[in-house]
Amino acid sequence: MSDTTTSTDPVLIIDNDEERARHFKTLLDFLHFQCSIVDPQQAENLGHEDFDRYTAIFTSNDETLRHRFLQLNQKQACQYPLVVMTEDPGNGEVAHLPFIAAIGNLPDYRSLSRVLEKLRHHNRRERRRSNREIHNLIGRSAAIAEISRMIEQVANTGASVLIMGESGTGKEVIARNIHAHSDRRNKPFVPINCGAIPSELLESELFGHEKGAFTGAISARKGRFELAEGGVIFLDEIGDMPLNMQVKLLRVLQERTYEKIGSNHSNRTDVRVIAATHRPLEKMIQEGTFREDLYYRLNVFPIEVPPLRERREDVPMLIDELIQRIERDKRGSVRLTAKAKQMLAQYDWPGNVRELANLVERLAILHPHDVVDVRDLPAKYLSDEVCQQIAEQADAVPAALATPQTLPGGGIDLKQYLADIEVAMIEQALNETGHVVARAANLLKMRRTTLVEKMRKYEIER
Ligand SMILES: Nc1ncnc2c1ncn2[C@@H]1O[C@H](COP(=O)(O)OP(=O)(O)O)[C@@H](O)[C@H]1O
Ligand SMILES: [Mg+2]
Repeated sequence: MSDTTTSTDPVLIIDNDEERARHFKTLLDFLHFQCSIVDPQQAENLGHEDFDRYTAIFTSNDETLRHRFLQLNQKQACQYPLVVMTEDPGNGEVAHLPFIAAIGNLPDYRSLSRVLEKLRHHNRRERRRSNREIHNLIGRSAAIAEISRMIEQVANTGASVLIMGESGTGKEVIARNIHAHSDRRNKPFVPINCGAIPSELLESELFGHEKGAFTGAISARKGRFELAEGGVIFLDEIGDMPLNMQVKLLRVLQERTYEKIGSNHSNRTDVRVIAATHRPLEKMIQEGTFREDLYYRLNVFPIEVPPLRERREDVPMLIDELIQRIERDKRGSVRLTAKAKQMLAQYDWPGNVRELANLVERLAILHPHDVVDVRDLPAKYLSDEVCQQIAEQADAVPAALATPQTLPGGGIDLKQYLADIEVAMIEQALNETGHVVARAANLLKMRRTTLVEKMRKYEIER
């Protein structure tokens, strides 16, 4: 989201009232915005990446869309610059979230300008907020300590950094931390995923284009280098960049100048490059799919991030951090027993921290504000051994209790003996569930009220 509305800022109108949409488009065209119109059904198929591009989104008061935006807002922890078009914009009801403002059906130029001004403030605030949300690098492993040290060392040098590691290991977190610790911290951090953008569009994305540079280039567009001026460009998945673009990028790094598509004017650029990849670039060089000269340009300061399975001791801390994020975003909460955390540390995490984050989110949905123990984890996260144990426990009385105990020669106080077993089981159940009585009752397959009664009887503290 841009914080200044320049003449080419894109604006989206979501409406199936043609007359109204045309009215808005005429005014916005006059103000030099780039307007697109879609109807509400089409808009339902758009995602965060689409909406995130717009400086303003004008929408009809459509219930389905409203819910969709509320959900996206929450998921992406952002607020789109949404304006609802309505008969009665003064009605406080409509201006509630996810809408930032409300506007009449056929506004005049002045009321539209007022709303755009409000959005400008909103976008500026959003930008500041999203910049603030840089996550610290969490972990107590030697590897994370070493990487934190490297971030501090390299941050203020301005050197190019190449971050290598499997997907989900935290490469982008590291890149953002370098930016945040550098003297460019008040300038933009502009990420671009070189693998996700079709190669024929990549050049225009990076360097921008002039109006009419190619079919479909109806207006000039800024490239990411221009947007990152004075700051940092984060070239994610650099190993996916096609060879012809590698050549062009190398030239920019060597000469510090670039040309927009359709222009022969050279622009000077002062942008620090941080690149990341999960691909083995050295092997790609041998195979001829990655340029060696570019590799050396980027690899001034290499940082290798080991996969999570090589730093298992980070798992419990990461779980706590990921839960805190959910709580901060007001998306609920969940707790894990120490045993559950230990079990998760044993798992191999092919998707690394991203997979762990997804699991924690899932647990928070399945067990809201509750305690998750080993047996509540999805089976794939359990060791074979534990899996089997759980299966056995589920349909059999524990072996120790099933075996008839030998009656001692002097006889036994059976009532006391059974009470001892009962107290021991209740205490274990409470310990394992973080003293959440309802959960402990589940474990003991009894009603909560029954358990409360027994606890009172045996004077067991909550
Ligand atoms: N050491 C870490 N501390 C805190 N969060 C992390 C850490 N590593 C990864 N994450 C989180 O895991 C997710 C994936 O990280 P990301 O940097 O996007 O990985 P990559 O770029 O390597 O694919 C993000 O939500 C990120 O915040
Ligand atoms: Mg990434």
